[in-house]
Amino acid sequence: MVRKLMLFVPLMAIAATTPRIAVHGHRGARAVLPENTMPAFEHAIEAGADFLELDLAVTKDDVLVVSHDPVLNPAICRSPGGATVIRELTLAELRRWDCGSIRNAEFPKQRPVPGTRIPTLDEVLSLAPRGSFQFNIETKISPDKPQYTPSPERFAELLLAGIRKRRLEDRVMVQSFDYRTLQAMKRLAPGIRLSALFGEDARDFAAIARNAGTDMVSPHQRLVTPEKVAAAHAGGLTVHAWTANKPEEWDRLISAGVDGIITDDPAELVRHLRQRGLR
Ligand code: G3P
Ligand code: CA
Repeated sequence: MVRKLMLFVPLMAIAATTPRIAVHGHRGARAVLPENTMPAFEHAIEAGADFLELDLAVTKDDVLVVSHDPVLNPAICRSPGGATVIRELTLAELRRWDCGSIRNAEFPKQRPVPGTRIPTLDEVLSLAPRGSFQFNIETKISPDKPQYTPSPERFAELLLAGIRKRRLEDRVMVQSFDYRTLQAMKRLAPGIRLSALFGEDARDFAAIARNAGTDMVSPHQRLVTPEKVAAAHAGGLTVHAWTANKPEEWDRLISAGVDGIITDDPAELVRHLRQRGLR
């Protein structure tokens, strides 16, 4: 009880002084709806998320689609048969997969939406007029698996064209574990916000951002400390931590001073921040 009170008092002090902490709906709202689907993104918008976080893959006919896995995952998507590597499927072929019927066993609250298809990036970006939220777009690409994606340069070109088509340059950030697409994007369009994603790197955040050439960092939540965040802020960086789903994790990140929290349950995080006077 005393410990809880001690945490609550500093959080109230933070409430008076901190800018709004951005809520990112991770893969839309994976805790409650099938990940990276239109129903999940619509839920995140209704919940008041500041960012829709989504993952990108590229089809055989060069269409950007929203999927965490470059190889379709039978644990969450129902197959019509045939190839499973997205880069080997045309959009029309990919659309035959049902990625809404199977509940992800990791998320007991998740409600299936049978028949849901993998959306294109353009479909997700078409939600923009529904609010002033932003898009946190992750390029899923890896130097180990060049056969799963176009080159980093081509990936960045396709993404930039998609963003420009909807005139959303000011409402997107692009993040990646593979900094090659970030660097390519920077060359093509220096105004697009970029964030270095990492899960293992113990260096200070500024060193990682310098290496990636970004003004934002997206560390795994366990790497976040108040000292690292303060040093990042002193260097002009913003910090968006992933993927925190528990109240105690949210409180730790709030106390550390992060700028954004990436969560599978944006509605719950919004409620949590409201309870603490943080929105
Ligand atoms: O937004 C950060 C987070 O999405 C990175 O991990 O694997 O869920 O894409 P992953
Ligand atoms: Ca992601």
